[in-house]
Amino acid sequence: MIQGRCRLWNLTLCALAFLFIYNLILTMKLVYSPECHKHQTPVVKPVKPARQKCEPIGTNQNTRTFNLDLTLGRWDNAQRYKLFDNILVGDRFAPLNDLYKTCLATQSSLDKLPSLAEVASHWSGPISLALFAASGPELDALLSYVAYLRKCDQGIRDRVSFHLGMARERLPRTFDLDEDKLEEMDCRKPLEVLRNLYEASTMTASRWRTKLAYPQNHLRNLARKNCQSKHVFLTDVDIVPSRGAAEGLDVFLEQAKCPGDGKCAYVVPTYEIDERVRFPRNKSELVRLAEKGLARPFHHKVFIYNQYATNFTRWQAHSNDGPNIHISHPVTNFEFLYEPFYIAPDTVPPHDERFVGYGYTRNSQVYEMFVAGYEFLVLSPIFTCHWGLQVKRSRPPWREHQNNLNRKQFDAFKREIFAKYNKDPLNMMANHKT
Ligand SMILES: *[C@@H]1O[C@H](CO)[C@@H](O)[C@H](O)[C@H]1NC(C)=O
Ligand SMILES: *[C@@H]1O[C@H](CO)[C@@H](O)[C@H](O)[C@H]1NC(C)=O
Repeated sequence: MIQGRCRLWNLTLCALAFLFIYNLILTMKLVYSPECHKHQTPVVKPVKPARQKCEPIGTNQNTRTFNLDLTLGRWDNAQRYKLFDNILVGDRFAPLNDLYKTCLATQSSLDKLPSLAEVASHWSGPISLALFAASGPELDALLSYVAYLRKCDQGIRDRVSFHLGMARERLPRTFDLDEDKLEEMDCRKPLEVLRNLYEASTMTASRWRTKLAYPQNHLRNLARKNCQSKHVFLTDVDIVPSRGAAEGLDVFLEQAKCPGDGKCAYVVPTYEIDERVRFPRNKSELVRLAEKGLARPFHHKVFIYNQYATNFTRWQAHSNDGPNIHISHPVTNFEFLYEPFYIAPDTVPPHDERFVGYGYTRNSQVYEMFVAGYEFLVLSPIFTCHWGLQVKRSRPPWREHQNNLNRKQFDAFKREIFAKYNKDPLNMMANHKT
């Protein structure tokens, strides 16, 4: 018994001695080795199968190779949406951001995407576009349409960078791009191509909207933050800027002096125009259309507060004020729910992502700018147009529902704004008109 214990003791001592010496050797080796080689031993992981069906073909490679892994991406703060930056980058997007002072940031779902061609033909600067897909099949159709637009349109191929947002509960694991179908898509028929995509996947344009809210503000932030030039012009994809605005703004911003603490937002007036006219070449042509009732301030009949403070009467009074962009007048009658499209450095407050769907999405951000002390200055002679004279229709119930939800959110939002800036210029804390 004693002998056995002794042998065990010796064995333990031997093991300890061995470990001590081994440890010493390892330490010496580490101390005298020239550098740590940690980075030379990469962890080898099994290669994931490519999610893209397509093989890059010759020069077309960049037309359709999406940098998109749906198992990655980044979550929004509430983990309701997943966002993917730069899934496809315009061939000249990066250099254009150095060349131009203003980047156009915009967002769209598949049904409105055909507008992009006209936007890109008028705007020669960089364009950052955030897309929303409501489901796996819609994502496939959306990516096909993006590849189609790039195939057919040099402006889009050069200037537009695409980003993607999807809802957590509708997120597929993979996507699929049908190469053969892409070859067949006719560049002369963008609307027909879109219709065929919808039919092939048995989706109805935007039927999901009754159940799934469109995350406008997530997409706006996604588009804004992927702009690389100093100034951002945030629009919706169906808001078409007048031709040459990007170059004109370069000249204007070069010499623009913003008084005070640099809090200036340059408003670009937005009109809605009759479908039958051609896009106005310049301000005098637009004013002539307005005089004939073929153009009018955007949302004039639907929701007048939308642009009213821009003061179109004043803007139109000088219909021939030369080709150089200048400040026509400041906004003097700011009112709650005003939501102009404007150009500003992207240090303006973000679009609050608690507002999802319709109501209080853009105007809550503009409201915060106003409380924060921004001045709104209306530019001339540039403008933007939305196709079609809008008439007041009853809102579909889903839209009313989203608006009601957001109105509740706005109550908390305005209190936070008050706490943040300790200012209440529109007397919102006492006023219950919201
Ligand atoms: C505006 O366009 C019209 C025709 O397209 C042209 O006749 C007119 O000279 C232009 N006006 C200005 C100020 O450029
Ligand atoms: C527009 O400007 C005119 C002229 O300065 C002014 O009389 C009018 O009150 C303004 N209207 C709005 C809505 O700001």
